[in-house]
Amino acid sequence: MSLEFPAHIRQQVQQWLAAKCAGGRGEAQAMSAAYKQGENSSSVSLAAYLTTRMPATFAAASAVLDQVHLVMPHALPESLLDIGAGPGTASMAAQIAWPSLNSITLIETDKRFADLAKHLSPEAEVVQQPLQNLIRKADVVIAAYVFAELPEREAAATSLKLWAQTSELLIIVEPGTPKGFARIRAAREALIKSGAHLVGPCTHTNACPMMGTDWCHFKTRLPRSRAHMQAKSATVPFEDESFSWVAVSRHAVTLPKFRIIAPPVVNKVAATFKLCGAQGLSQSAIASRDKAAYNLARNMKWGDGFGV
Ligand SMILES: C[S@@+](CC[C@H](N)C(=O)[O-])C[C@H]1O[C@@H](n2cnc3c(N)ncnc32)[C@H](O)[C@@H]1O
Repeated sequence: MSLEFPAHIRQQVQQWLAAKCAGGRGEAQAMSAAYKQGENSSSVSLAAYLTTRMPATFAAASAVLDQVHLVMPHALPESLLDIGAGPGTASMAAQIAWPSLNSITLIETDKRFADLAKHLSPEAEVVQQPLQNLIRKADVVIAAYVFAELPEREAAATSLKLWAQTSELLIIVEPGTPKGFARIRAAREALIKSGAHLVGPCTHTNACPMMGTDWCHFKTRLPRSRAHMQAKSATVPFEDESFSWVAVSRHAVTLPKFRIIAPPVVNKVAATFKLCGAQGLSQSAIASRDKAAYNLARNMKWGDGFGV
C-alpha cells in the first residue's frame, strides 16, 4: 500500500488549505513548538496539522495496515470507527486497505477537526463527541495518535473501552517515542488479559521483553511536499515517521515467529536481524554463502515479520 497520500486526498487537502488560509511556515513552526511543550492538538492550527502532520500519520497508519493485511489477508470488514479522527487520516488509509468498508464513523471531540473531517470525507458520518462516551460498535476500530492526548494512566482502560466496541479488529497507533510506546505497552497488557488475540507487531502474548531505555517502535519514510519542506525549513525531500502500534483481533490468526525490531544490518558477509519473539529478544544472522536465504533476507525490513 502506498505510504503517500493518494492524489484525490492530496487535492482535497490542498483545495481546503487554499480556500481557508495561506497555511504556512509560522503556523507549522508554532505547532512543532506546541507539540514539544506537550500541548495537545486543540492548540494546533488545522492548516499546520494538514501540512506537516497528516502526511506522516497517514504513512504510519498505512504501514500498520500493511502489516495487519499480511496476517489477515482475507478480512473484509464492512464498518469502521476512527477514534480521535482529526481530519480523518486513519480512515482514509483504512478505506484504501479495505475497499469492503461501507460504513465509516469518525469520532472526534474538537469541532474544528470534526468540521474539517466532514468536508474531507463526505461519505463518513462524523460524530463530535469524546471517545469516552462511545456507544457504537464496528468491525474495525482504529485509534491513531489519540492516546497521546490522554494521560498515560488511562491507556489501559481506554484500550478496553475501545475493545468493547470492536466486533473484529482493534488497531492502536501512537508516536514511536518512549511515551507513545508506554501507552501501547499498557494497552497490550490489558487487551491480552481480556482475551484478545494479537495481530501485531508482537508475535506472542508473553510479557513484553523490551527493557530499560529500549522501546518498540518502527519507522516509515515519506516524501515531503514543497509546502511541508517550507513549513519545517527542511533540507531533504523526505522524513522518517516513528510509530508504535498494537493490533488485536476477536479471532486467533497465524503469526510469524518473530518481528524485526531494528534496521537490519546487511553486508557482504551476512544479513543480521534484531528480533522479538516468544523467547524474548534475539539476533539472527543469515550468511551470504546461503545464497537463496540471504537474497530473501536482504529485502526484509525493520517492522516485517520473520520466520513462519
Ligand atoms: C494528533 S490528532 C490525530 C488525528 C488522526 N487520528 C491522525 O492520525 O492524523 C488527535 C486527535 O484526537 C482528538 N481527541 C483528543 N482527545 C479525544 C477524545 N477524548 N475523544 C475523541 N477525540 C479526541 C483531537 O481533537 C485530535 O483531533
